[in-house]
Amino acid sequence: MPSVYITTPIYYVNAEPHLGHAYTTIVADVLKRFYTLLGYDTYFLTGTDEHGDKIVRAAKALNAETKEYVDKISGLFRNLWPHLNISNDDFIRTTEQRHKKVVQEILKEVYKKGDIYFSEYEGLYCYGCERFYLERELVDGKCPDHKTAPEIVKEANYFFKMSKYQEWLIDYIQKNPAFIRPERYRNEVLSFLKEPLEDLCISRPKTRLTWGITLPFDENYVTYVWFDALINYISALGFPDGELFKKFWPGAQHFIAKDILKPHAVYWPCMLKAIGIEPFKHLNVHGYWNVSQGKMSKSLGNVVRPLDMVSKYGLDQFRYFLLREMVFGLDSDFSEDALVARINSDLANDLGNLVMRSLTMAHKYLDLRPPTPSEALAIDQELLELASDTVNYYEKTMVALEFHKALIQIWELINRINKYIDTTAPWALAKKDPKRLETVLYHIVVGLKVISVLLWPFMPESSQRMQELLGVEEGIVGKGLANIKAMLRKPIKEALKKPYALFPRVESQERSQVEIKTTSNKEDTLEITIEEFQKMDLRVGVILNAEDIPKSNKLLKLTVDVGETREIVAGIKGHFLVDELKGKQVVVVTNLKPTKLMGVESRGMVLAAVDEKGELALISPTKEMKPGSKVR
Ligand code: MSP
Repeated sequence: MPSVYITTPIYYVNAEPHLGHAYTTIVADVLKRFYTLLGYDTYFLTGTDEHGDKIVRAAKALNAETKEYVDKISGLFRNLWPHLNISNDDFIRTTEQRHKKVVQEILKEVYKKGDIYFSEYEGLYCYGCERFYLERELVDGKCPDHKTAPEIVKEANYFFKMSKYQEWLIDYIQKNPAFIRPERYRNEVLSFLKEPLEDLCISRPKTRLTWGITLPFDENYVTYVWFDALINYISALGFPDGELFKKFWPGAQHFIAKDILKPHAVYWPCMLKAIGIEPFKHLNVHGYWNVSQGKMSKSLGNVVRPLDMVSKYGLDQFRYFLLREMVFGLDSDFSEDALVARINSDLANDLGNLVMRSLTMAHKYLDLRPPTPSEALAIDQELLELASDTVNYYEKTMVALEFHKALIQIWELINRINKYIDTTAPWALAKKDPKRLETVLYHIVVGLKVISVLLWPFMPESSQRMQELLGVEEGIVGKGLANIKAMLRKPIKEALKKPYALFPRVESQERSQVEIKTTSNKEDTLEITIEEFQKMDLRVGVILNAEDIPKSNKLLKLTVDVGETREIVAGIKGHFLVDELKGKQVVVVTNLKPTKLMGVESRGMVLAAVDEKGELALISPTKEMKPGSKVR
């Protein structure tokens, strides 16, 4: 069985997890799940990077012990991932013994080999920050934090002979076009490699920094940043002898953002070469999420916290948005308005309504019995072809990290099925051609089955729900794309299920009648006089017809006989199926001022009871009454 190994950067524990960390981890999760779908053996690693002066300073700023502080922030990352449905197999911390041991072994070997040497380093040092700065990191020649000019300091340190591997690296990148991808980053690295590579300083004297891994050949020094952090990708697999390492390293794919391109595209391959390990397979580099056209930062107060988004809009909605909105490799702007727009149009309107209307018809016309197709017409064949092409295109684009394209194609299929329903008009067939009706419902259901499974990497929970509603065979995930395609030709055996709203619309203005009714509680119930009550005209009504208002998540259009026929918009969608409403007796406020809801004029209000869980029941007379009878 082929295998793939997916990693995220290990995140610094000097700040709490935000949108950027969430995106990388979600996108990595999507690819891991995609390969799981294909039937690969997968292994997915994330973790935290906990050494270095940045971390020591962050702890100091909070008056905390470094160890206590890193435990806390690392815990925030570790505990966040289950809430985002991240399916990581391991979580590594650079302060763990299993990691430190491997770093020291590697340092020993590379030192023995002669690729690490001791030398004097001269640089711009800020005593406030206790670190060296590069010229270009300064603002007006001053430390951006302390606003003081750094001093030139000489320090003896250990260096990794990176320059020795420059030619090899250029050659390797040229011979392996997908080694660094997308191409813009490959080009960026190649152009950077046109200049001679400098050797990499890999140590700090303990007089300056103790929070690190001690060099095995000089206990007065610790390793610094990258020689420690990058090795996590193999220490977690139990390098050198671990089974996991042997099995998964050849299929390694690292996910990072463009900020840490150089260490991953240059230092890491050179380090691997020096250690004598084959390079990873792919470095997958994405762009930056910006907020309000700028960078997220604590001081600007515009940091997007993933859990806030999830609790406000739902997890799968958030995951879908991130993957649909960002073109992998390019920067993107994050805004809640854009998120809401996508939820309402793509999820609630297109996909949610398609599932709802399809299964409502299956319920109404077939009592949820599996539809059996008869002879397929051209329009049915075309639908199957598009579904089959969608699976092919999905594979091609997912493998190439073009997640947004895969989603666009799935939505083409969703829209095509919506159009197919409009064209074939099953409600008309129900009256005159039951065989054709079943054929049409069959094609709708198999199309939806394919969609439900293809969406699993992006929206695991909603995909699972769709699969349950549609009776998709258990264990399809992991059986490969050929088996997903095969669903398009197979008889449907499992009964279907009654639908419910999968993706609630995010309402801004629209407040349904029911919501208005439920906002009052005992404390703020106003007393009214009998005269005031008598102003209300309450009548028994019979629901003659109920229709979906496709753009709304809550509203149904009812035609009600209250002695005369009225159209009434009621906020009861999702609580009842339209056909179970037909013929029901209800109580209606008939003298309510007419109002327009979602473009439909509503003349009256149907009364319903609601409990604290939001369960609804319509109010009916205890025996059948003549429509229009007065309620007092
Ligand atoms: N500890 C190093 C990585 C070591 S890997 C061997 C580090 N940590 S970090 O906490 O700064 O994380 C950087 C990563 O977080 C980026 O590469 C990216 O994956 C993610 N992001 C942080 N901010 C981001 C955005 N605004 N947008 C997208 N992703 C970004 O660097």
